[in-house]
Amino acid sequence: MAPNFNTSDSLYDFVVKNGNGVKGLIDSGLSEVPERYIQPEEERIKKVKTKRHDVSPIDLSKLRGPDHKKVLDEIVRAAETLGFFQVVNHGIPLELLESLKDSAHRFFNLSPEEKSLFYPGVSPSTKVKYGTSFAPEKEKALEWKDYISMGYTDDHDALQYWPNECKEVALDYLKLSSTMVRDIVEILIENLGVRVEESRIEGIIGMKMVNMNYYPLCPNPDLTVGVGRHSDMGTITVLLQDGIGGLYVKLDEHNNNHNDVEWLEVPPIPGALVINIGDTIQILSNGKYKSAEHRVRTTSTESRVSIPVFIFPKPTEKIGPLEELVKKEGVARYREVMFQDYMNNFFANAHHGKKSLEFAK
Ligand code: OGA
Ligand code: NI
Repeated sequence: MAPNFNTSDSLYDFVVKNGNGVKGLIDSGLSEVPERYIQPEEERIKKVKTKRHDVSPIDLSKLRGPDHKKVLDEIVRAAETLGFFQVVNHGIPLELLESLKDSAHRFFNLSPEEKSLFYPGVSPSTKVKYGTSFAPEKEKALEWKDYISMGYTDDHDALQYWPNECKEVALDYLKLSSTMVRDIVEILIENLGVRVEESRIEGIIGMKMVNMNYYPLCPNPDLTVGVGRHSDMGTITVLLQDGIGGLYVKLDEHNNNHNDVEWLEVPPIPGALVINIGDTIQILSNGKYKSAEHRVRTTSTESRVSIPVFIFPKPTEKIGPLEELVKKEGVARYREVMFQDYMNNFFANAHHGKKSLEFAK
């Protein structure tokens, strides 16, 4: 029987508190977007003023060969401008990428009761969390998205506490992506022309989390968002998206020579992974690299999945512009904060573009 959503509270309870998620709404036969999901005009994702980002993905296998310098320059250039790029030959087998997408569908196809076993407070680990939207208590309009978050501590915990439907593939993905992650972070830091200890790099990439995002098909993509505009708070994010599309990155005033285009769509490329720069790298680099502001549009025909690996500093790591860089440049554009505090502030607010960075001002 279709539930009764006469009040905004009954809808909220159904979606957020009782484990049904947005998927439960759609499965209940709902054919219109509820009020609670309707974004204010300025947040709606229109296709005008957007354009496909038609740039070839970066071939990471060439990092170890004669084209080394060229590839390195491509990575640096992308980090300085858009904060987003795509990579191929990244060392993760394509069959694993396929299995990951399948396993995300398997998890979200579980019953609400099964998924709610991963609710905070019920979940067998504080690092594993099933939820919907981003910060439902803080948001005026909810995001059209369900997710499962799997924080990594060690292999044993991952295999014990992550959902059976996806734990093995998610763990392989996290591990197989770590060489690429390290290479990219080292390239970016070395290019700043300052010396950074090995142990500092470890600290900067010391915490990892795999998420699976599920964006159910939506009766009205013009009124909703899958994810509202935000930047990722961590170091870098590696993202696998399926073939449906809908991920957009904002062009800022400095790199906008596209006349009237405000957002670039990051098109799905079979076998490629999306890399984006997080706030932490922007802060460490004293503003030289740009965390990318991005958002996700929903689709009316199919449910989309995406699977990010978020790389964060260790919670106790102090994050501020690298000291030598500040000496050289004579100015610190951000203050030093403990990453734990940055993270707490990030999760305490609804998505709001790059406002997250103001915490470090
Ligand atoms: C995120 C995100 C993009 C996507 O999870 O932070 O921006 O394509 N996801 O799902
Ligand atoms: Ni993001």
